[in-house]
Amino acid sequence: MSCPALRSVFLVLFLVFSSASAFALLNPHVKPEPCESCHMKTPTKADGEAGNYFLLKDTIDDTCHVCHEATCCKPGSLHGSNHPSNIKDWDWKLFRRPKTLPLYNGYITCSTCHTHSIPAPPSYKMVRIVKVDGKKIDWTELCRDCHVGY
Ligand code: HEC
Ligand code: HEC
Ligand code: HEC
Ligand code: HEC
Repeated sequence: MSCPALRSVFLVLFLVFSSASAFALLNPHVKPEPCESCHMKTPTKADGEAGNYFLLKDTIDDTCHVCHEATCCKPGSLHGSNHPSNIKDWDWKLFRRPKTLPLYNGYITCSTCHTHSIPAPPSYKMVRIVKVDGKKIDWTELCRDCHVGY
């Protein structure tokens, strides 16, 4: 291998490690949230109502995956094996359209079940409509919002 090639390998390794540690230090869900962790440009309230979020990626899920593909969504992990996201078609006899949870353009996304900043306590992993009672976590109501007969 020639020298410049070696140097670029080290440069790549350096960038990988330095960006990994930047993620470890920065939790974008803690106030004051760094808006640019997820938005190219901060939407106004009116933009939001029109569905224009100016996210870093094309979809909400892809934006969350920038940091969370490994922690939540790889096959075998909780969501990979357990829960579909970024879908808009399903068996309507088994899964109804949620009454409380938001869909985005008809899609179930990460934001359907999670808020994107840590809400006022009690909260559990930023999950919506979850009941926290001491150590007991109850998300029956969340699942029931869509699953018939849950
Ligand atoms: C962790 C990622 C993330 C961060 C950090 C973030 N947002 Fe968002 N934001 C989203 C996503 C995803 C949506 C799309 C809909 C939703 O989840 O509510 C959104 C939607 C919005 C909307 C439109 C819908 C609404 O809720 O009114 C506004 C306005 C907004 N963000 C402003 C901000 C501002 C201001 C900041 C910084 C203080 C910020 N966001 C930080 C991910 C983020
Ligand atoms: C810039 C990187 C980044 C982006 C983008 C990002 N997150 Fe996170 N997220 C983190 C970090 C860092 C933590 C805290 C450490 C951890 O639990 O992995 C975290 C934690 C979480 C947690 C666990 C909270 C807890 O109490 O255990 C959830 C749920 C979560 N994020 C959901 C989302 C969702 C939904 C989106 C997209 C709207 C998103 N994240 C986008 C970096 C990110
Ligand atoms: C159908 C609802 C639902 C959807 C959709 C959903 N989540 Fe979750 N998520 C949950 C629940 C419930 C938990 C808590 C599970 C637990 O603690 O066992 C959770 C936990 C998490 C955690 C914490 C994992 C841990 O081990 O601490 C992260 C990170 C996360 N979700 C990110 C995401 C991202 C990113 C998406 C979109 C790709 C997403 N979630 C979509 C319901 C959902
Ligand atoms: C926003 C609506 C929604 C919510 C909330 C929701 N689900 Fe689902 N869930 C679905 C849909 C739709 C499918 C089927 C997707 C498909 O067939 O492609 C599904 C599929 C599943 C599956 C895969 C096996 C099956 O029955 O097809 C499991 C397991 C599951 N959900 C568990 C849960 C649990 C546990 C909760 C509560 C923490 C929950 N879901 C909350 C909509 C939801």
